[in-house]
Amino acid sequence: MNILLLGSGGREHALAWKIAASPLVTKLWCAPGNAGIAREAECAAIDIADHAAVIGFCQMNRIDFVVVGPDAPIAAGIVDDLNAAGFKAFGPTRAAGQLESSKSFTKALCRANRIPTAAYEHFTDADKAKAYIRAQGAPIVVKADGLAAGKGVVVAMTEEEALAAVDMMFGGGLGEAGAEVVVEEFMTGEEASFFALCDGEHALPLATAQDHKRAFDGDQGPNTGGMGAYSPAPVMTQAICARVMEEMIYPTLRALAAMGSPYKGVLYAGIMVTKDGPKLVEYNARFGDPECQVLMLRMMSDLVPALIACADGQLKNFSLRWFDDVALTVIMATRGYPGDYGKGFVIEGLEEAAGVEGVEIFHAGTKASGGKILSNGGRVLNICATGKTVTEAQQRAYEAVDRIKWPEGFCRRDIGWQAVIRETSAN
Ligand code: AMP
Ligand code: GLY
Repeated sequence: MNILLLGSGGREHALAWKIAASPLVTKLWCAPGNAGIAREAECAAIDIADHAAVIGFCQMNRIDFVVVGPDAPIAAGIVDDLNAAGFKAFGPTRAAGQLESSKSFTKALCRANRIPTAAYEHFTDADKAKAYIRAQGAPIVVKADGLAAGKGVVVAMTEEEALAAVDMMFGGGLGEAGAEVVVEEFMTGEEASFFALCDGEHALPLATAQDHKRAFDGDQGPNTGGMGAYSPAPVMTQAICARVMEEMIYPTLRALAAMGSPYKGVLYAGIMVTKDGPKLVEYNARFGDPECQVLMLRMMSDLVPALIACADGQLKNFSLRWFDDVALTVIMATRGYPGDYGKGFVIEGLEEAAGVEGVEIFHAGTKASGGKILSNGGRVLNICATGKTVTEAQQRAYEAVDRIKWPEGFCRRDIGWQAVIRETSAN
């Protein structure tokens, strides 16, 4: 079959790598792709925000199945438009994708279905939001309702910070995304990412992962899209995963099906493991980036039939096999990220780095030019490694990082620290 993958990040490189390995695939395209994806797929320079152009490409190239990577096309209704044009796609419709694109939609769904999450209120008015914050006190969390590229959440340790966040959001600091806000209870615990494939009715849990959102070592510095990840996340025991399925994923699927918007695709639950058990931090309507990279490395089974089963409502009785090894990824980003950064810096040593045992390198913001690989974004490379333990995978990944010559790049040196401490104290 002919498959078109949409996106251009490290998540999409990992998906392309896994999809390209499937014997079911005749040809794989990726739009727009990047320099690493070009090894697995033919990259097509189409603007994926232009749905008519995507549909035209599918018609011209006899595409059988479209896999949507990022959140923006889902929120823009690409799956609805593809389906209406007769194309099968992996990913939720715009209505079901509100689980990610509208925090108030998800919070209301949780409240109506008793899904464990932080207590909250939803506001369209700054004064009411402030009065609520003053009544609740800090720490407290202020969230823009809409998609804000990871900048829409302020975890305020003081009341002043929370009030300032309300002013920033209602003042237009995040554009449309901040026109409505959710103010919620501050939860404490260890965070992890949980993924389940969904076909509208049934769900198949994938693996768990933990990512590192802060820019610098020791979980310091500004929030980013993610500076590294590893899988599995030991905090997500079998018992906790079973609770997540029963208390969150299935009630969510039933609620969406009852609304006439069955959820098909991958459902990503951000979990806080609190002393009272798992609570939902947020839903995303796509794979995590960089969590997807480590999940793909650990998946033994063919991914393609599983993605198709989601779209076809055929996940029941479906199973996937996984490698026992753990996987870890270190993100190399351009200095300045997540703030301003330059582009077009030459990156060398990638082949030497890929030669380290167990290492696989996925590209995010890269571009090929004149036989060289150039940086072309904030998050640029995903240096991934598998190993028997997180400690081993971490050593391999950093050995590969050290072979890369890219002075304008940086990475955290402590990815996986929580699991490494667990492993060290167990020995
Ligand atoms: P989100 O974009 O909703 O995932 O939020 C970004 C980060 O903010 C999360 O990964 C958490 O670390 C933190 N966060 C969000 N909501 C809460 C909460 N209610 N309590 C504590 N931390 C939170
Ligand atoms: N790694 C966090 C995310 O994909 O949202």
